[in-house]
This record gives sequence, structure tokens and C-alpha cells, in this order.
Amino acid sequence: MGRAGGNPWGLQKNETVGGVVRFDIFTLFPEMFKSPFEASIIRRACEAGRVTLALHNVRDYATDKHHQTDDTPYGGGGGMVMKPEPIWNAVEAVLGFDPAGRSDLPPLILLTPQGRPFTQAVARELSAHERLLLICGRYEGVDERVRQYLATDELSIGDYVLTGGEVPAMVVLDAVVRLIPGVLGDPGATADDSHATGLLEYPHYTRPAVYRGHPVPEVLLSGHHAEVDRWRRREALRRTQERRPDLLDQAELSQADREFLDQLQVEEGDSTVLKRE
Ligand SMILES: C[S@@+](CC[C@H](N)C(=O)[O-])C[C@H]1O[C@@H](n2cnc3c(N)ncnc32)[C@H](O)[C@@H]1O
Repeated sequence: MGRAGGNPWGLQKNETVGGVVRFDIFTLFPEMFKSPFEASIIRRACEAGRVTLALHNVRDYATDKHHQTDDTPYGGGGGMVMKPEPIWNAVEAVLGFDPAGRSDLPPLILLTPQGRPFTQAVARELSAHERLLLICGRYEGVDERVRQYLATDELSIGDYVLTGGEVPAMVVLDAVVRLIPGVLGDPGATADDSHATGLLEYPHYTRPAVYRGHPVPEVLLSGHHAEVDRWRRREALRRTQERRPDLLDQAELSQADREFLDQLQVEEGDSTVLKRE
């Protein structure tokens, strides 16, 4: 439901587009979402009606004359803290009721470097909901009462600190949107993705078959599907063992997988001995 001739992806104040899974994003900088939401898969997901994106400018819900959304911290110190009222008012207005103490809420997620780590498993968990609300902090963060009494979940996209929650919200949204059925052309496309099953994905190749003297692995040109699948599984195991062995503890592994990993370890041991000699 884009607007004819204009930008259909919701940079007008508090506007919504799309359908099926709805994201409500609470931010002081809705314009930051313009470019990512207007491109590629997210744009198509909106056009196809799989996703609704609604951007809410928290400043619009500040009730004082200057629309103040931040204030100095109690106890002193530098920086500013986002005030609780504009955020709470915004969420309340968008939901149509005060969410305090309700157990029937959609996930109301505060983006914070102190939250639980955002992983592919969390993205999958979130993709099962019909509605997600994301609160983007700024400055020193949001008043603690938002975290304690309004948010139902807290997510961190990594152990580093960004200037605001907008990029984390985009990361969460992007990872969730591609898991919504019908968003990607190939329904099985996400099944082998890195982190989907606890492994890193196998390497990909496309034409030409030989590039600057570097050939594509022979098996991929063979047309033998079972052999290709076996090669891909083994390369995924090899990659994960080489780069992220920690992931193997949680991965679902068959007996054949384990035997292959054991074989890799033996080969690794042999090559170390050879190098020393
Ligand atoms: C400068 S940060 C505040 C960090 C806060 N003083 C702290 O040390 O925990 C401002 C806002 O950016 C967002 N943010 C920064 N890093 C993040 C991360 N790794 N994951 C999720 N959100 C993050 C949060 O919304 C946060 O409120």
C-alpha cells in the first residue's frame, strides 16, 4: 500500500505500510531508516504485504513545550538520559492501552548493549510473532524504568557500544524479515545459512568455472546432487571446525559428521607434525 509516485516506505510521521508481520519502531531519528527500508528484500517484503513497518518519532509524544526527550542524569555525571514519558506515551498510543503489567503483549524490545545476545536462534524465535515493537535508545541510554516496567525483552547486537539503537533495530528487523515465510524467493534458502543449524555455511561458487586460473571444485560441476550435498555438508563442517569450533558443541551432528570431524582432526595433527619436521 505504497503512496503513488512517492516514497511508500514510511518516512512520513507515524505512517504504516505492508501487512502480516508488523514492526513498530520507536526512535528519535526515523529518517535513519529511509535508505535500508527502501532497498531490496525489505522493500519487496513490504510491497508483497508480508511486512508492515511503522516508524514512531518519540519526540512527537513529548508533552512539554519544547518536546524534550532527554534530561541530565540524577546523581550527576556527563551525558543525557532519554526520559521515560515520551517513550511510554508513544508505546501506549501505538498499542492503544497502557502496557504496564500486561502479560498478553507482543515482544516489546529495548535495544541495549546490556541485553541478551541477538543470534540467529533469537531471530527465528521473533519471526514467529505477528508483531514486534523495538525501542531505540540514544545518548547514555534510556531511563531505567523503561527497561524495568515497559520493555518485555532486551537485545544486544554485540559486545560494543553504538551511538543509538537505530542500527541495532535495523539489524534485528533485517534478520527477522528474511525468516518470514514468503519473503525470500526460495523457501529453503535460509535452511543452510550460517548459524541456522549451528554450523557455518559451505562455500559458494558461480560462473565462470575457472577464474584467473582458479577452478571451481569439480564436484559442483558434476550434476550429481547427492555428491554435491555430501561435499557441502563436509565443507560446512570443515569451515566450522576451522573458524568457530565453539559452535560444534551445540550443532546437531550425525554419526557421519562426527567421523568426518575426527578425520579432520587426524589430518590436522598430521600436517602439524609434517610442518614441525
Ligand atoms: C551510547 S549507547 C548507551 C550505552 C550505555 N551507556 C551502556 O553503557 O550500556 C546509546 C543507545 O544505543 C543503543 N545501543 C548501543 N550499542 C548497542 C548494542 N550493542 N546493541 C543494542 N543496542 C545498542 C542502545 O539503544 C543504547 O541505549
